[in-house]
Amino acid sequence: MSCARITGTGSYLPNRILTNAELEALVDTSDAWIVERTGIKQRHIAAPDQTCVSLAEMAALRAIEAAGLTPADIDLLIVATSTPDQIFPSTATRLLERLGMPGGIPAFDVAAACSGFIYALDIGHRFVRTGGARRALIIGAEVFSRILDWSDRGTCVLFGDGAGAVVLEASEKPGVISTHLHADGRQEPLLNVPWGVGQGYEALNADSGTVSMRGNEVFRVAVRTLGALVDETLSANGLERGDVDWLVPHQANIRIMTATARALGLPMERMVSTVADHGNTSAASIPLALDCAVRDGRIQRGELLLLEAFGAGFTWGSALIRY
Ligand code: ACO
Repeated sequence: MSCARITGTGSYLPNRILTNAELEALVDTSDAWIVERTGIKQRHIAAPDQTCVSLAEMAALRAIEAAGLTPADIDLLIVATSTPDQIFPSTATRLLERLGMPGGIPAFDVAAACSGFIYALDIGHRFVRTGGARRALIIGAEVFSRILDWSDRGTCVLFGDGAGAVVLEASEKPGVISTHLHADGRQEPLLNVPWGVGQGYEALNADSGTVSMRGNEVFRVAVRTLGALVDETLSANGLERGDVDWLVPHQANIRIMTATARALGLPMERMVSTVADHGNTSAASIPLALDCAVRDGRIQRGELLLLEAFGAGFTWGSALIRY
């Protein structure tokens, strides 16, 4: 069985930057509160004519180019998102058309909120390892600005828009080493968008179509759960604290991220952090952070990476990768 190796990364952020100072004019908040409690200084917001597919397209093209390929070389396309353009077709099949891919290859979306990219990566690497695909394109893309209540200071300051992508190719060299996925629906009311199309349009109102979160309770579960996930990932691979070269975490809150880096025994400079500039881009945040650290030369070939996420569901997961 071959390995699934990351051969290209790409990302895209909309041009429009929304600063904390601008949010001070919208809701009762302050730059100091947002920075101290979350680490976020700004986030990118999609233009009115940009959607999940258009952000995904830009990230995909950059990842495919970085891998030295063309869209026609891709034989599996997975998009992780909670903010698709349409109920159907999926974002992934719409993207086939946008990328001028000839069609016929499997393409589908994965919904696991902020853990979506880890879920999609897990699925993609299984396809590649078992010969079901040779070159998989795995994307996380979100336009969370469209599902925020811009009068709720507890959520609107946290999220941003963006997309990130990786190409996974069959290889004799090691790549994705292990993945660990989990979900538990019992605390769903702590973090959700309460409306969905299955409830019927008559159930949609001003409150039901936007992100609802009891942030403080989510925070405590996230820190505890990610600590256990780190232990699980290290022990499943016979690793000790400090053995990993880089932590590439989901970028929800700098305090959650640093707690996870401590659990891993890593100094803070070994954690890739984009939360200050991007905010929480949900399923896009890990591939966005990965692409930043690959392109600026921090992450080098042969290094050991731990990717992890926690999100609504709750869902959580990790991937240990030899880059
Ligand atoms: N500006 C100023 N004050 C605020 C703001 C704001 N933007 N938001 C909340 N507050 C107030 C609260 O009203 C509260 O006031 P009170 O004491 O008078 O009641 C006070 O600040 C403290 O509120 P907490 O919720 O306890 O603040 P906390 O330190 O927990 O920070 C935060 C809130 C940033 C949301 C944090 O809890 C967090 O990051 N939670 C986890 C988020 C997460 O990881 N989500 C999962 C991924 S997202 C996904 O899957 C879609």
